[in-house]
Amino acid sequence: MKATLYEVAFYFCIMSTQPIGIFDSGIGGTSIFKEIHALLPYENTIYLADSHNAPYGNLSKEDIIRLSIKNTELLIKKNCKIIVVACNTATTNAIKTLRSQYNIPFIGIEPAIKPAALQTQTKAIGILATKGTLSSELFHKTTDLYSNGITVIEQVGEGIVKLIEEGKTFSDAMRTLLKIYLKPMVQANIDYLVLGCTHYPYLMPLLLELLPPHVKIIDSGEAVARQTKAILESHQLFNAKKSKPTNQFFTNGNVDVLKSILNEKFKVAYLDF
Ligand code: DGL
Repeated sequence: MKATLYEVAFYFCIMSTQPIGIFDSGIGGTSIFKEIHALLPYENTIYLADSHNAPYGNLSKEDIIRLSIKNTELLIKKNCKIIVVACNTATTNAIKTLRSQYNIPFIGIEPAIKPAALQTQTKAIGILATKGTLSSELFHKTTDLYSNGITVIEQVGEGIVKLIEEGKTFSDAMRTLLKIYLKPMVQANIDYLVLGCTHYPYLMPLLLELLPPHVKIIDSGEAVARQTKAILESHQLFNAKKSKPTNQFFTNGNVDVLKSILNEKFKVAYLDF
């Protein structure tokens, strides 16, 4: 049976108003949501903060995959049209499995090693990420590809995500941790610091204060938003309605901590998932 032009147009219209699903181990992926919302202001979104299970960084690959599947299934149940894995740890450990199991487009995030490696003048770059990201096969592949002739100082940000999830981003404990983690990088004369975790952009004021002024800090947030736009374009999934979108946020952790890093206009709700 052939669909009429009207039916085809109606179908795409319904499809396109479906939300973009975004998940992270916690509140860090909101740094990615903000980039997506700035670039695609008419898109409806649903954000899942799996804060109850954060941090993912110290979990086994199997557990990271299991939790990523759980988040994906919920977003699919909530009728999402594409899924943004707004977590480096989940991307580097689970995106291959997600793509093989579900028929929906996935966009992932990885540490921005390439631009740092291509632009460094001092031939030394630093990467701050979780243990799960730094030990992943995907991370090693990318690093091997771009690190020729460059010193790459990898540092596990042990404890950072936990403090951010507890609302202690600008605490003395955080300052102490960062001083310890940045010291070997500064000693190696890095000129680029790659933030390999979506929680870390929230550390920017502290990083700027603790690093020498010539060190540039980069993350992949903007690139993920651009890639999300490109995927919507190639799959003809843009929201055709140019009206105020619905941006929903769900957390299975502390609602107030999630609220504190978002604009008041966004609604945050507790959800047991
Ligand atoms: N935001 C996650 C990431 O980008 C944090 C991982 C964690 O929960 O340890 O890696």
